[in-house]
Amino acid sequence: MRIDVLTLFPQMFDGPLSESIIKRAREKGIVEIELHDIREYSTDKHKRVDDYQFGGGAGMVMMIEPIAAAIESLKAQREYDHIIYMSPDGQTLNQQTANRLSLSGNIILLCGHYKGIDQRVRDHYITDEISIGDYVLTGGELAACVVIDSIVRLIPGAISDEESALTDTFQDGLLSAPIYTRPAVYNGWGVPDILLSGHEANIEKWREEQAYERTKQLRPDLYEKIKSPSEGKK
Ligand code: ADE
Repeated sequence: MRIDVLTLFPQMFDGPLSESIIKRAREKGIVEIELHDIREYSTDKHKRVDDYQFGGGAGMVMMIEPIAAAIESLKAQREYDHIIYMSPDGQTLNQQTANRLSLSGNIILLCGHYKGIDQRVRDHYITDEISIGDYVLTGGELAACVVIDSIVRLIPGAISDEESALTDTFQDGLLSAPIYTRPAVYNGWGVPDILLSGHEANIEKWREEQAYERTKQLRPDLYEKIKSPSEGKK
């Protein structure tokens, strides 16, 4: 998979894309992530990338020319499955979207800044708009990092124990059961006996019950969508 990121602030990606699982996935060649500074595509002698809004109003708007030049240059080199604009107006990211995007070959992530981008970019180039939540960030960069992280960890080989991505919270629409590790007792606080019983089938059943119970308590909105088989019959 290849991810091209268009941004005015490439350095904002330094930390998140060069640590841990994403770092390893890049080193292993599982994902190629290229950062492109939109300013380099400006033909303006001062390298301007933004201008005032037509019709007036507060806030600068990112101009179409440098963004279009960057996208056209990438599209001339390969085909893209998705050209995504990070925006609070977009569809809210969830596990299903991350799963779907992780199956892509090549994607572009466009990060906006200031008031936003010229609408014509959205109308003529963008295939998807993604938000990471109902709040406004200073730009799309942090949101793009979240999208990249959520999809790269799903690519086979990115996580050593592939099982662990499949059993993530949300993969089956449920939160995960509580997890514990050594010591079995800390400060007088034990762990559920069942987890020390060695009885795999009972442990599996306990985890499933816990997942339903936690989802019901903590995320009733998710629980409504996927009631436990026994609850459904009531
Ligand atoms: N850019 C600014 N705010 C954003 C958000 N909530 N999600 C995605 N991109 C954004």
